[in-house]
Amino acid sequence: MLTEGLKKRVGAAFVGHRGRLFEALGGNARLHEWLRANQPFPSFADRFQLYEYIQSEVLKGQPIDYLEFGVSRGVSFLRWAEINSHQESRLFGFDTFEGLPEPWVSVSAVAPTGAYSTKGVVPETGDHRVQFVIGLFNATLRPFLEHFQPRSRLVIHNDSDLFSSTLYMLVTLDPILVPGSILIFDEFANPMHEWRAFSDYVAAFGRSFRVLGASGAYYTQVALEVTA
Ligand SMILES: C[S@@+](CC[C@H](N)C(=O)[O-])C[C@H]1O[C@@H](n2cnc3c(N)ncnc32)[C@H](O)[C@@H]1O
Repeated sequence: MLTEGLKKRVGAAFVGHRGRLFEALGGNARLHEWLRANQPFPSFADRFQLYEYIQSEVLKGQPIDYLEFGVSRGVSFLRWAEINSHQESRLFGFDTFEGLPEPWVSVSAVAPTGAYSTKGVVPETGDHRVQFVIGLFNATLRPFLEHFQPRSRLVIHNDSDLFSSTLYMLVTLDPILVPGSILIFDEFANPMHEWRAFSDYVAAFGRSFRVLGASGAYYTQVALEVTA
């Protein structure tokens, strides 16, 4: 038999889950509408193919200022350092290296606080163009921007997963996101996190983008160019 306390807890969990489900369904519908309106664009089987395409067809060997938000062990970060070998490129990796600052909650999955932690260890690289900016985005990004003068085309790569981290990054970078800047989202299709942060940012700041390409089974990763 359920006690009153247990009934309340089960009820609250059900309502919370149902709320997330409705939020995800609404976000998903808006995402698809937006993607349909932004067709056509090339689509690739995996994210590394998307990076290669951006490098060869969009950047065409230019130097870049690459800022990655959410580096962890550096799988995507080190790949970009490898594929853009221009000696004038600069690569900045932002992370606490202590994992997600809050739980990542989606409809059918949860990643706990601390997921993807490397226990403070930064990826090993001898590349002199690389710098890691260690700490929470909301502690490091504004001080970083006080000294950062973009000198090449910006490539911003968001793999921070969370709504809060993505929204903070977009809003804070807004002044330097000039037309031509490239944004890559690693979990674009998640209607409760990166997509939600992107669409809220676009609505609030009135920016425009075009889709350069996507990858993954369900537009998981998307690369965009700022047009206005
Ligand atoms: C999915 S992992 C990144 C994976 C990595 N790009 C790769 O390809 O291996 C997400 C990372 O985002 C970082 N992160 C998320 N929100 C953050 C925030 N607000 N400040 C600093 N780091 C954050 C976490 O520490 C975690 O390492």
